[in-house]
Amino acid sequence: MGRAAWLVVVVALLAFDLPADAADPMPRPGGLPPGVLSKAERGFLEKHWRRAIPPQGPAPARFSSIERSLQPEACGACHPVQFGDWQASLHSKSMGPGVAGQLVEMARREPAAARSCSRCHAPAAEQRPELVDARGVLANPDFDPTLQSRGVICASCHVRGYEHFGPPRRDGSTASRAPRGTFPHDGVTRTAAFLRAEFCASCHQFGADGLSLNGKPLENTYEEWRRSPAARRGLQCQNCHMPDRRHLWRGIHNADMVRSGVKITVRADRARYRAGDLVRATLAIATPRVGHAFPTYVTPQVLVRAELVDAHGQPVAGSVEERVIARQVPLDLSREISDTPIPPGGRFTLDYARRLEAVGLKLRVTVTVLPDEFYTRFFEALLAAGAGEGEAQIREALEATRRSAYTLYLKELPLT
Ligand code: HEC
Ligand code: HEC
Ligand code: HEC
Ligand code: HEC
Ligand code: HEC
Repeated sequence: MGRAAWLVVVVALLAFDLPADAADPMPRPGGLPPGVLSKAERGFLEKHWRRAIPPQGPAPARFSSIERSLQPEACGACHPVQFGDWQASLHSKSMGPGVAGQLVEMARREPAAARSCSRCHAPAAEQRPELVDARGVLANPDFDPTLQSRGVICASCHVRGYEHFGPPRRDGSTASRAPRGTFPHDGVTRTAAFLRAEFCASCHQFGADGLSLNGKPLENTYEEWRRSPAARRGLQCQNCHMPDRRHLWRGIHNADMVRSGVKITVRADRARYRAGDLVRATLAIATPRVGHAFPTYVTPQVLVRAELVDAHGQPVAGSVEERVIARQVPLDLSREISDTPIPPGGRFTLDYARRLEAVGLKLRVTVTVLPDEFYTRFFEALLAAGAGEGEAQIREALEATRRSAYTLYLKELPLT
């Protein structure tokens, strides 16, 4: 590691040991007043996020070809900042090899299950090869395979029947400043529903019909948020995941994002020890800037490890304490193995106690994040069972799950 990189690590570690900044640890800018959705906002969201988004239908005759196009690049020609952010985000990769590789075989063996994935991973009608209506399953005349692979595209959040929807202007105003027809894509219908956590819930919260384990939906982010200190302060998903309206959607795959949300401290009960003394130390993880459980989903794992190391950095045998912070589930999703995520407003602690048998030892504490731990196991099992025509993609996805792990925190505390 070069010197500059070390400095970054040192600064990051120092930053974590500073006391909580005053009484209000939450970022404030842009937070909505706590409270429920207005009737108009609720009505908008129910229609906007209907189970299957209907086809856009014919575009208004005066639309140019770029205004007709649902390709993210077309929107990006006039909205380059949002396009650049989106392209780097996981929303643009939601039909990546891990999903697409499974869908090849699933479409053949369990077509209904395969269709259900698109509701969140590629939700626009033009992304679906088939449509289901009263007559049964039909080939979709509007299907565009080049759109299907693009995942959660701009139009899936912003366009219905070629009408463009967006948030109020930053000053809160919603009225068009000139006749709508004078703007590209006939301007925008603005609604505050875009600023609400409920806007994200249709894909980040399982409903009553979704899989539940131990009384909690497998995907429960919105409900966790609703009962969180962040929600009480009026902070929506967007305030943390779309800061300054940026389309970043950083989450557990991004170490800086996770660092921005958690506060990790390690304290020993004394500054120095002698050989034969009992070392007592406490590692604490608080999540003042996370708006839900940490982690919220069942696929990541956070590994906490404390051990004694000698002057050469070698672990002292028998000194390791390890904990897993995760909602662990087996591959068949049949039950909950453990439920140790840190609830919003909660705190994790590991109390470490060992007799010091020699001088010159340090206490090393590491927190490692495996954002895709479940998928590593899952893709390995899928390959072992035979992933059929999806094999090459699943292999690629498996490699990506291994690369995504990172060290969130590392500290060595001199003890003698
Ligand atoms: C030819 C240029 C052009 C293209 C292509 C275009 N837009 Fe726009 N868009 C504009 C302009 C200009 C405005 C400002 C309209 C207004 O203020 O009423 C706008 C406004 C918006 C807004 C509201 C922005 C705000 O400032 O609050 C959203 C959301 C939006 N467009 C989404 C899209 C999406 C999604 C696509 C692709 C499906 C798209 N646009 C394609 C030019 C374009
Ligand atoms: C997952 C849903 C989602 C997707 C996908 C998405 N947006 Fe947005 N967009 C939003 C939300 C929500 C807001 C309002 C955010 C806020 O105010 O905090 C927004 C705001 C905007 C704005 C207004 C920005 C401003 O500064 O006022 C524009 C323009 C826009 N989006 C364009 C796009 C384009 C172009 C794409 C694709 C490249 C895209 N969006 C993809 C949800 C989405
Ligand atoms: C149409 C469905 C849909 C909507 C609406 C949606 N998301 Fe997502 N989101 C997804 C999917 C699918 C993924 C997983 C992408 C992948 O990794 O394949 C995802 C991923 C994410 C991630 C990254 C998680 C990680 O593991 O790091 C964040 C953060 C996120 N979404 C936040 C939001 C927020 C905030 C909103 C509301 C403004 C929102 N999403 C709206 C479907 C959606
Ligand atoms: C209710 C919305 C929803 C449905 C339905 C859904 N997913 Fe997801 N999926 C998500 C979200 C949200 C994430 C990101 C989770 C996170 O990081 O919090 C995700 C993540 C994933 C990932 C890991 C990210 C990646 O791109 O490799 C895979 C694989 C996946 N889903 C496959 C599927 C498959 C296969 C189906 C259908 C059987 C499906 N999903 C149905 C919302 C959904
Ligand atoms: C107060 C800030 C804050 C709010 C509000 C917030 N989040 Fe997060 N979110 C974070 C931070 C920080 C992380 C990274 C740590 C983590 O993974 O929990 C994160 C991670 C995630 C992830 C990654 C998956 C995982 O297992 O952790 C998803 C998906 C997500 N958030 C979605 C949402 C949605 C949807 C909402 C609204 C219902 C929301 N977040 C509200 C700060 C916030």
